[in-house]
Amino acid sequence: MITTGDIAQVRAIRWADPSLSWGLVPTMGYLHDGHLSLVRQARAENDRVAVTIFVNPTQFAPTEDLSTYPRDLERDLALLAAGGVDLVFTPDNTTMYPPGFQTKVTVEQVSRPLEGLSRPAHFQGVTTVVAKLFNIVQPTRAYFGQKDAQQTVVIRRLAADLNFNLEIIVGPTIREADGLAMSSRNVRLSPEQRAVATVLYRALHTAVSALRAGEHDSETLRALMRDTVAAEPLARLDYVSVAHLHTLAELDRVESGALFSLAVFFGNVRLIDNIVVEAA
Ligand code: PAF
Repeated sequence: MITTGDIAQVRAIRWADPSLSWGLVPTMGYLHDGHLSLVRQARAENDRVAVTIFVNPTQFAPTEDLSTYPRDLERDLALLAAGGVDLVFTPDNTTMYPPGFQTKVTVEQVSRPLEGLSRPAHFQGVTTVVAKLFNIVQPTRAYFGQKDAQQTVVIRRLAADLNFNLEIIVGPTIREADGLAMSSRNVRLSPEQRAVATVLYRALHTAVSALRAGEHDSETLRALMRDTVAAEPLARLDYVSVAHLHTLAELDRVESGALFSLAVFFGNVRLIDNIVVEAA
């Protein structure tokens, strides 16, 4: 496994044999089994696998957790070497954003609702860095986790609109035994917060069960999620949503597929989760 922060070296390795397919797993490090499941999928579907580790400052607002975002490069590299990864790109901020940098990539509509309402500049930071990573690595396939549901919609739009010559693959959300979606931020929860953080998954399940029992009114389904979170004193709701799977617009009624999602604070740790319902 080669680890480098140098763009020219990444390109030289990637194009040493143009006949080989490459899978790319972009990450911000502090890897968990959600990332590693994407690495395993990329390993199975490509000749070579590249992982990027870069805590991208432009997708964090000044009030957010950039400085406390967990980092452990040594542990990450050991996990990736054990996972059969060929190349790890670990650029620094100046490599990604050199003096004079001034270009931003914006995906308009699907960046605005949900996370976009709470984190207005977030997706512009994500799409700018992901476009750069796509151009640097030029993978055959790029892998993202369903846990960041809106991010997958935004990145599919980015790849289609800017004609990136690659396939976007979305891997399933990987959960702890009690249902909590794996996230690098989970480590920042206190033991008490961690114990009740399952409230996201419970809220989603309450709403999906009600849908399965015949409740199609989205506002009733949202209220069920709100009430579940409100019953948990350590949790503070940011938003709940029942939205169209592709436009991400809020639905009045769930008549076919829908994205059920929510964001919840525990102290200053903000977690998100979602469930996709394909048919009502
Ligand atoms: O999902 C993430 O970890 C990040 O948003 C990504 C895609 C690596 C871009 O910084």
